[in-house]
Amino acid sequence: MEARDREGWGTRSGFILAAIGSAVGLGNMWRFPYVTAENGGAAFVFFYILMVLLVGVPVMLAEFTIGRRTRLSPIGAMLKAGGRAWMPLGYLFVATGFLILSYYSVIAGWTMRYTLEAALGGFSTTPAEYFSAASEGTSAVIYHLAFMGITIAVVAGGIKMGIERASLVLMPLLFLLVMGLAIWAIFLPGAEAGYSFYLRPNPQRLFSLETLGAAAGQAFFSLSLGMGAMLTYASYLSKQEDLPSAGVTIAGSDFLVAFLAGMVVFPVIFALGLSDEIGESTIGALFISLPRAFTAMGDGGRIIGLIFFSALFVGALTSGISLLEVVVSSLIDTWQLPRATAALGAGLVITLIGVPSAYSTNVLAIFDQVAGNLFLVFGAFALTIFVGWRMDYPVTELQQGFRSEGLLRGWHFTLKFFVPIILAVVLYQVGKDTTLVLYQVVKDILALVF
Ligand code: PFF
Repeated sequence: MEARDREGWGTRSGFILAAIGSAVGLGNMWRFPYVTAENGGAAFVFFYILMVLLVGVPVMLAEFTIGRRTRLSPIGAMLKAGGRAWMPLGYLFVATGFLILSYYSVIAGWTMRYTLEAALGGFSTTPAEYFSAASEGTSAVIYHLAFMGITIAVVAGGIKMGIERASLVLMPLLFLLVMGLAIWAIFLPGAEAGYSFYLRPNPQRLFSLETLGAAAGQAFFSLSLGMGAMLTYASYLSKQEDLPSAGVTIAGSDFLVAFLAGMVVFPVIFALGLSDEIGESTIGALFISLPRAFTAMGDGGRIIGLIFFSALFVGALTSGISLLEVVVSSLIDTWQLPRATAALGAGLVITLIGVPSAYSTNVLAIFDQVAGNLFLVFGAFALTIFVGWRMDYPVTELQQGFRSEGLLRGWHFTLKFFVPIILAVVLYQVGKDTTLVLYQVVKDILALVF
């Protein structure tokens, strides 16, 4: 498709809300609170903010720069901006989108099931058993199918009529829900114990590679960076857009929702004396201890639970949409497929790839480690090198819509030197973690076979 007849956002706020929609999702509402509590509380929050500002925002602007310069989806964009040598990076982005959405949709399916459950009859009185039944097996597959169905329908609707319209309604709704919940949580008896568990400053933990890895991994996943989602959304923009301000707004909103989610989760769990259940940062904690707490609060708790899981579902949906859009826009640009065919075709393949994750949370965890951690960090690293060292005049691209050349030069300098060094360290750490996980898998498989 030529850039001339390419679709585009209807309004500036449409783009910003859709990008916030991509960023705010499961990563904010279940991952951030636990990662923070495990890695040093308030000290980690401070460290995480630095990471978002000094690494996350620069990388986001790098994606915006390529997207808006080329006005193409990742594969075509990398070819146009960098030549054949950089095209594989575009393919990696699309592959990462495929893989992340395949398991993300399974977790999103659980949130749908919990939302419906809260609406129809209340949560189970045996949440741990309920979660193991809900998270693996045929019912997980059915909800995974349902979530993919909704995601495909929105993406098939296009940029303005599908993604922008959905974000304009859903994102303000999500903010209101999370904000309302956080205010409500202040008045819970025993809330302070929850806040202090969440935010208890423990600066010692900061000086370790693990914490650096945790903060960076969380920042990339949460800001949807390293797989071309922000690149793709920026490719639908006009040249007047002030991208640096948009980047700061998106990152700030993403952080705010993540932070507020913690201000809900921990007071609720502590108010009900369920802190022993937090234990490991497993995916299940949110789906087991929170419903238990909501049930213990009676009918009011059920309504609060309904609001919580609805917000989680809304966040997951707008993020799932952006993951699918990376794949679909590439099919449209590179192979000239009609949008509806591309959305349905890619959606079906992704749904199939997700089925093993719906049958086993162990498989899901492996996908998350490889695609959600390793590929994102690697993608961001390669992208930084490209924009820092190889791309022609990236600063000029951002100057359209933003005046301060000094700040932009600072940004480019950061991309050349600071960000790649940090990312190389993080990549080493994430690579080590992934090798350990894969090594364990191979050992388990061998043990089964022999
Ligand atoms: N940012 C999303 C979240 O925090 O849940 C997940 C995500 C969406 C990651 C889109 C990557 C992406 F491209």
